[in-house]
Amino acid sequence: MIKNKFLFILFSVLFIFSCSDDEGADYIPPGNETPETIQASFTYTVSETDPHVLYLDNTTEGNGDFNSIWNYGLGGDNISDVPGLIEVRYDNEGEYTITLYVIFDGLTTTATQTIRVDENGICPNGFCGSGGSESLKAAATTFAVGTISRSSWLNAGGQHTEILKSEFNSITSEYEMKMNIMYPTQDSYDFSAADAIVGFAQANDMHVHGHALIWHNATPTWVENFTGTDAEFEAMVKDYITTTVTRYKGKVRSWDVVNEALDDSSGHPLRNSVFKQKMGDDYIKKCFQFARDADPDVLLFYNDYNMASSSTKRAAMFKLVDNLGDLIDGVGGQMHISYNGPSATQIQSLADGVVSRNLKLHFAELDIRANPDNDLTSLTNDRSEAQRAKYKEVVAIYNSIPLENKFALTVWGVRDNESWLIDFWGNPEWPLLFDSGYNKKPAYYGYLEGLQ
Ligand code: XIL
Repeated sequence: MIKNKFLFILFSVLFIFSCSDDEGADYIPPGNETPETIQASFTYTVSETDPHVLYLDNTTEGNGDFNSIWNYGLGGDNISDVPGLIEVRYDNEGEYTITLYVIFDGLTTTATQTIRVDENGICPNGFCGSGGSESLKAAATTFAVGTISRSSWLNAGGQHTEILKSEFNSITSEYEMKMNIMYPTQDSYDFSAADAIVGFAQANDMHVHGHALIWHNATPTWVENFTGTDAEFEAMVKDYITTTVTRYKGKVRSWDVVNEALDDSSGHPLRNSVFKQKMGDDYIKKCFQFARDADPDVLLFYNDYNMASSSTKRAAMFKLVDNLGDLIDGVGGQMHISYNGPSATQIQSLADGVVSRNLKLHFAELDIRANPDNDLTSLTNDRSEAQRAKYKEVVAIYNSIPLENKFALTVWGVRDNESWLIDFWGNPEWPLLFDSGYNKKPAYYGYLEGLQ
């Protein structure tokens, strides 16, 4: 019905007394401003007592007279809307598309939603089967299911901690295992936050993906302004990598040794970071060697963004990776993508390139923007469904690679409102699997569907 409860009650009363001959529509007397169109919208819920019954709720709002008509997808005639929830039975298994037509001023707008019905009734959120209550990590049997956290959130208890434990089996630190946090001053390391994250993972039988030893965006100021010789700089980097990797030997499964080394200018040369300036073009190889020497068993990754969307950057990345020979175990393709791109073909190209090199593939930093063009102020059903389809596509591509190339798929955040993208792009955004109330979104079910 109408979102504004006060208006709803008021206009329901008016409606009853108006003895309307347009029975079924929600009436709001025309105001001074007449909109040009009214956007159709509705929600649905499955009855808690009868899983074959759906309640449809017309949420269309407007300040002019409009007619609302339903098609329940059951093959019958269209039915006029009536005030209150509408109860519809779906007894047979299958997929049904429900359409709401809203007619205003001779114009018709529609909203559609598809539901699925299996032998147990209407599938919650469209996800059928016993997996409806299954966790991500239980469903993904062949690779680690990762997300990020922060030391202050891990042991705070509450839903964040519960979701980490119930859904995921791999943790990446969002920012506390980067150089500016672990090596804040020339004289001292600070592993307190990293220790908390690694300790939590150990206590809860989870992997830790270490991210990231070297990243130009998390270099401490004292390193940026290093005053010693180049040889002293290199010795410092060697000490940092050796100290860090040794500390977490046997506790951290894998490290991003170098993150985002490639520049976005033509040809994607190496970014002109302080590491390149002081240690030369082969600084990446040196860093991998330091890490390898510290822990022969830990898995070493190179991680970068736009690996699917840019074929030229991907080519530059593979050149860099090929040059590392046996020092590297895998490639992290950051999956900061959008509901409408990159395409499945582009994502598959990244997977194929990694698989053909017999390397492990990390679909890292997955978040899927629902609002890349800033055309939404709230997450619509349509966009949420498109996002769900993209999650399904990404997971399905990952799940189809050979077992020996599988490693982990890591989502970059738990709740929408905690995503780094909101600040980064300055737009409203809902890119993750859980909404701000920790409710599973259609995106979550898309992830599960990708595993089927
Ligand atoms: C981001 C974190 O989410 C932020 O909290 C932090 O302030 C900056 O870094 N690519 C990466 C990640 O490799 O480390 C970044 O994470 C997001 C982009």
